[in-house]
Amino acid sequence: MKTLAIETSCDETALALVDAKGQGEDSEFKILAEAIASQIKIHRPFGGVVPHLAKREHEKNLPIMLEEIKSQVNDFAPDQIAVTVGPGLEPALWPGINFAQELAEKMKLPLIGINHLEGHVFSNWLENKKAIEFPAVVLVISGGHTILLLMESINQWKKLGETRDDAIGEAFDKVARMLELPYPGGPEIEKLAHEGDPKSIKFPRPMINDKNYDFSFSGLKTSVLYRLKDHQDDKADVSASFQAAAFDVLSKKTLKAVGEFGAKSILLCGGVAANRTLQNRFSKMAEEEGLDFSVPQLKYNTDNGVMIAVAAHLGKDFPIKADSSLNL
Ligand code: KG4
Ligand code: ZN
Repeated sequence: MKTLAIETSCDETALALVDAKGQGEDSEFKILAEAIASQIKIHRPFGGVVPHLAKREHEKNLPIMLEEIKSQVNDFAPDQIAVTVGPGLEPALWPGINFAQELAEKMKLPLIGINHLEGHVFSNWLENKKAIEFPAVVLVISGGHTILLLMESINQWKKLGETRDDAIGEAFDKVARMLELPYPGGPEIEKLAHEGDPKSIKFPRPMINDKNYDFSFSGLKTSVLYRLKDHQDDKADVSASFQAAAFDVLSKKTLKAVGEFGAKSILLCGGVAANRTLQNRFSKMAEEEGLDFSVPQLKYNTDNGVMIAVAAHLGKDFPIKADSSLNL
């Protein structure tokens, strides 16, 4: 089954043509074509994504990305079209949905709506190096979400907790802005943190010892702001210390869930999962606990079209209308 997937929930216009064989966790995916137009340069002067600019860029880039996909294959013949319907910025979602709808009508193909967050989760099954063992604890960490899931099987999960305020990626982006680093801040903080001392500044670890699996990153962000007001710290030390505080909370809560539910694997996904420092830390932690660890390869952590095609095969089918508040 060949799926043409379309993703426009934020600032990437991403398309992919993926062939899926098999069922559920035994599925195998072959990426036939992929194309992505990043809008980072357009939003960078504003320090974040500007919705109406995102809409305009998606409208402009969608036909160009489709041509790019067609140029990568001899025979462009999808069996279905899948499009992200949420969560995301509503003005960004609609151009993708409208484009998908027109194309589906023109090509007489079925159209299915995809949950962007399912895309992140299922990107862990893309390579299928070895079967992921259940139960699995999954940490979804992106610019808009911070969610801890307990997966009993590939299509059965329970949300254990989520952020009560800022998403972790949002905190990275805001702290980067305070440090006058360009948008998106996550990769910039990670880079700078390599040269800093993570123990130099004691930032709070919000909710780290709470009994629940919820998170909060707004207080951590604010304490960075206050610290910068009355100290002349090295930016690398601030980056390293902020990152360490945020990752301490993620690790501790994940381990707690592993213990309580007897998990056999830990999975990471979402833009922040592209952070190598975090990946190394989780990989080590999993090894020490005798658990499997999985994270998609680097470019499939941040938004992309391939993950939407994978979710079209493994996930649920959602109504074809923008739903910015969709969740897991
Ligand atoms: O999943 P994603 O591409 O878009 C959303 O669905 O939100 O995630 C984007 C977020 C941004 O906040 C970005 O700063 C963060 O992921 N990010 C990182 C890294 N790469 C991207 N955060 C920390 N370290 C990174 N290397
Ligand atoms: Zn995303």
